[in-house]
Amino acid sequence: MKSVRILCICLLTVSAVIGNEKCPGVTVVVSEESDVILPCSLSTNQNLEQKLFDWRKKAPSKQEVFMYDGGLHYNNGRRGQDEHFRGRVSHFPQELQFGNASIIIRNTTVADSGVYTCDFPHLQPEQRLCIKLVVELTLKDRSGEIRGAAPKPFVGILNISEDEALLKCEVRGASPKPKVEWRDSDGNILPAEEPQVSRTGERYDITLLATVTRTNSSLFHCVATQEEMGHVTRDQIDVRYCEKTSEVKSHCGVGVLIGLWFSGVLTVAATLAPSVAAKCIRKHKKASQRNQRDDPSKEACNGDASLTNCLTSQL
Ligand SMILES: *[C@@H]1O[C@H](CO)[C@@H](O)[C@H](O)[C@H]1NC(C)=O
Repeated sequence: MKSVRILCICLLTVSAVIGNEKCPGVTVVVSEESDVILPCSLSTNQNLEQKLFDWRKKAPSKQEVFMYDGGLHYNNGRRGQDEHFRGRVSHFPQELQFGNASIIIRNTTVADSGVYTCDFPHLQPEQRLCIKLVVELTLKDRSGEIRGAAPKPFVGILNISEDEALLKCEVRGASPKPKVEWRDSDGNILPAEEPQVSRTGERYDITLLATVTRTNSSLFHCVATQEEMGHVTRDQIDVRYCEKTSEVKSHCGVGVLIGLWFSGVLTVAATLAPSVAAKCIRKHKKASQRNQRDDPSKEACNGDASLTNCLTSQL
């Protein structure tokens, strides 16, 4: 059975939540996709097997969550449960004899957040408990799931030498404005330049440059986060610095193609003359393959120069 994670049951009084009525209760906080027990027990511990209890959601929307009446309930034929809770809620039959009418809600979503009541309408005096449920968003990749979620960043190398590389990360069309960071492979945030932000309507384009130096690690991530919607997306780049012996010093490393794209060469080429660009890239690939047999690192440092030349001359 999937474990029930309850991050915190804060003994807070949820007061004045249901109209003028005050009702004692607790707040339960869980992260989404987990299962949660909403507690409701009678202090008298009286047997509830032949009794009636009713769980409702009162706010922000009114929904019928779970009703038990002398053995008949929503999971064995009783009608009236809200669609939203269908098949996700159950009680604890073994606990009824101890006056325990708690329920479990499985696979919670943020939409489950709200105020719930647990009622015993036929008891004298009538009993009611309130439970405030807070389902928190977890950070995960929600690209394509939510409107405005930042797409996977474009990463590239703008400039590289024997011991330094200028990395570029671009996140386009995100709303709300995402936080964009360069991180190393251990997750540490790298010092970066002030992000360049441009806005079109609701959408934000963000460019973040960072200079990295030859370190133990050569793997870097660009991470875009939108806390409000629990969305995080990333891309990574593996930086290969130029060899010190290399004669031609230009751009090096993987991401050269992406770097060129950013610098506009490929964009222009692709717009004006797609066939020329394709030809150049094919040519470039062939040249790279030839070079690679001789010296792979040389290829990294020289390859793109030939591509640039090719494109420039063809245009
Ligand atoms: C009621 O039952 C649930 C589920 O077994 C349990 O987690 C909870 O502690 C019980 N409450 C009391 C007051 O015994």
